[in-house]
Amino acid sequence: MKINGYTKITGIFGDPIGHTLSPAMHNAAFNALGLNAVYVPFHVKSNLPGELKAAVESIRALGLLGVNVTIPHKEKVLKYLDEIEPHAMDLGAVNTIVNKDGKLIGYNTDGAGYLLSLRDETGFKAGRKRAVIIGAGGAARSIVYSILAAKPVSVVIANRTLRRAEALARSFARKFDSTDIIAAPLDKDSLFEHFVKADLVVNTTSTGMMGKGELDLPLGALPARAVVSDIVYRPLRTGLIKNAEKLGLKTHGGLGMLVRQGAIGFELWTGKKAPVKVMEAAALKALRIR
Ligand SMILES: NC(=O)c1ccc[n+]([C@@H]2O[C@H](COP(=O)([O-])OP(=O)(O)OC[C@H]3O[C@@H](n4cnc5c(N)ncnc54)[C@H](OP(=O)(O)O)[C@@H]3O)[C@@H](O)[C@H]2O)c1
Repeated sequence: MKINGYTKITGIFGDPIGHTLSPAMHNAAFNALGLNAVYVPFHVKSNLPGELKAAVESIRALGLLGVNVTIPHKEKVLKYLDEIEPHAMDLGAVNTIVNKDGKLIGYNTDGAGYLLSLRDETGFKAGRKRAVIIGAGGAARSIVYSILAAKPVSVVIANRTLRRAEALARSFARKFDSTDIIAAPLDKDSLFEHFVKADLVVNTTSTGMMGKGELDLPLGALPARAVVSDIVYRPLRTGLIKNAEKLGLKTHGGLGMLVRQGAIGFELWTGKKAPVKVMEAAALKALRIR
């Protein structure tokens, strides 16, 4: 990579930010396509008032191509943007900002990235299917939205804190009224009842991450056609994925979502087709070095 007077800059705003795999992924993609651009991490502190606003204004002032936005800024950043794409507006969260000739436009590529990787790795398409989503946090919200947009028969949102599942289900009920959206507790009997009919189970909780414990899910109740998906990618193969594999079920790990949400952002910034395989290999390498 050569930095010179023509180098374009992209990056990521987050707090903390040291753990991010995105610079490795995007810089590998710029190199592969011979683009004179660079991707850097920006530690935008959340405890200092005014920092996020100043950081967003700097995208325009410094002429960045755009940035990714990660925890804890995805929701707060909306009010500083000029335009928000409808999908991101519905979610109330932005993970990608594009600087279009000085106009800052917010997108959310998480859910679309998730579905693309699920389709590519397992062939799964959510239309006319039954999905069970474990968790009701920010990642669940993006994934549930994109699955609902594909018109499934039903989506069950099962969460440890039931009222969060209920709030999430309620927030999409009017927009997606052709699908049954059901909030459920995270207990074995209730899960069993939903798993028996499920085509897809997705873990969107942080359980399964190193040191965070594992959920005890009744995977044996799932039909043989079901796909088990886990958006956690540290480790690459979580306990959930290993248990599903032992039962002969199709599985889908979390790295693909990270790569695909990034690839959509890369295409928005550069107008070029993202080299997804290059990005995946770079993310894998960065993950293994840690
Ligand atoms: N692959 C990717 O590209 C990608 C993208 C985004 C996020 N992620 C991963 O997804 C995970 C969730 O992220 P997020 O942003 O959605 O977090 P979040 O908004 O904080 O939500 C966390 C969710 O996990 C649940 N949870 C946490 N600990 C639990 C436990 N011990 N037992 C049962 N449920 C538990 C929470 O339940 P309560 O509501 O009851 O607290 C909540 O539903 C993280 O591990 C993150 O790294 C991956």
